[in-house]
Amino acid sequence: MTDNNRVFIFDTTLRDGEQSPGATMSHAEKLEIAAMLDEMGVDIIEAGFPIASEGDFAAVSEIARQSRNSVVCGLARAQIPDIDRCWEAVKHARRPRIHTFIGTSPLHRAIPNLDMDQMAERIEQTVTHARNLCDNVQWSPMDATRTEHDYLCRVVEIAIKCGATTINIPDTVGYTAPRESADLIRMLLERVPGADNIIFATHCHNDLGMATANSLAAVEAGARQVECTINGLGERAGNTALEEVVMALRVRHDIMPFDTGIDTTKIMGLSRRVAQVSGFPVQFNKAIVGKNAFLHESGIHQDGVLKNVETFEIMKPADIGLNETNIAMGKHSGRAALRAKLADLGYEVGDNQLKDIFVRFKALADRKKEVYDEDIVALVQDATANT
Ligand code: KIV
Ligand code: ZN
Repeated sequence: MTDNNRVFIFDTTLRDGEQSPGATMSHAEKLEIAAMLDEMGVDIIEAGFPIASEGDFAAVSEIARQSRNSVVCGLARAQIPDIDRCWEAVKHARRPRIHTFIGTSPLHRAIPNLDMDQMAERIEQTVTHARNLCDNVQWSPMDATRTEHDYLCRVVEIAIKCGATTINIPDTVGYTAPRESADLIRMLLERVPGADNIIFATHCHNDLGMATANSLAAVEAGARQVECTINGLGERAGNTALEEVVMALRVRHDIMPFDTGIDTTKIMGLSRRVAQVSGFPVQFNKAIVGKNAFLHESGIHQDGVLKNVETFEIMKPADIGLNETNIAMGKHSGRAALRAKLADLGYEVGDNQLKDIFVRFKALADRKKEVYDEDIVALVQDATANT
């Protein structure tokens, strides 16, 4: 790799994100989201799990054909038929990748009933097979954060020797914490022969609300691929949110000097479209893309923002492609905000009229959760008619 500060963004909205119960997307919707991700500068799109269904196979194949810039990746279990099916789908891409995985923690090893040696052998066979088909192979020890360290080092070394070019370290159940997430990557980089010739990825789930922090900690320790989804969509509490990692790296570049290739002005459009097609609305106070993320309602905040937007905003709405007003009119709003809102709506009012409209506005705001522009226009008309 040339630029050691470049962090690759691996989006798995269409695979891990779509695994959220009820988030199934249609074929056309998947192609549309993939095109938007490609356009936004996502480095790798995980387009689906080709052996899972005919629909997934068709979507991954079509996304592979249509993608212009992004690497297109498909998921496969550590089984030869899975890997072959995955290759059949991704091979159409200009830059295909096979992502194969197996659960390596004691709990996960018990499921296929493989002992440590048998599992190591399976990893050797399947990674070698994938690498014979495709020169871009990602391997994941699922539940890595609950796998014994010695065994994790052993299997990561095998995967690297068999040709994996990216090693992903999943925190499958959202169990790790930032310091541990960093220590794990550091330990692998120090102990595994060949580790400095591959990319380590971090793949976090948000069960304890730490997915973004864990991903950033892993990056600081040397991971150079972050796996994430738009809006943090994903099973249970979801995956690391793409928009949070990308904006954190941008806003706090002073202390985390890492670059992504993402055009951040595309974030809001993607967030809204993913919410629509997945049927998963974004919580109002969600970082970066929530409806309230840039809205100020209290009088003190509104006044501050009107005087100098940086008093209460650490990033500009336009940076994420949001070109809407950042002032929410409600019962906490002050006179300065009302005057600014009126000016926005084309009304220049004198002090006495403002006083009158403000009294009416407060009475309305006490009854109504949100006061819309139309409400304010009605208040002005009312006030004018009664003077
Ligand atoms: O969370 C996880 O472990 C996964 C793997 C398939 C990478 O999604
Ligand atoms: Zn996952």
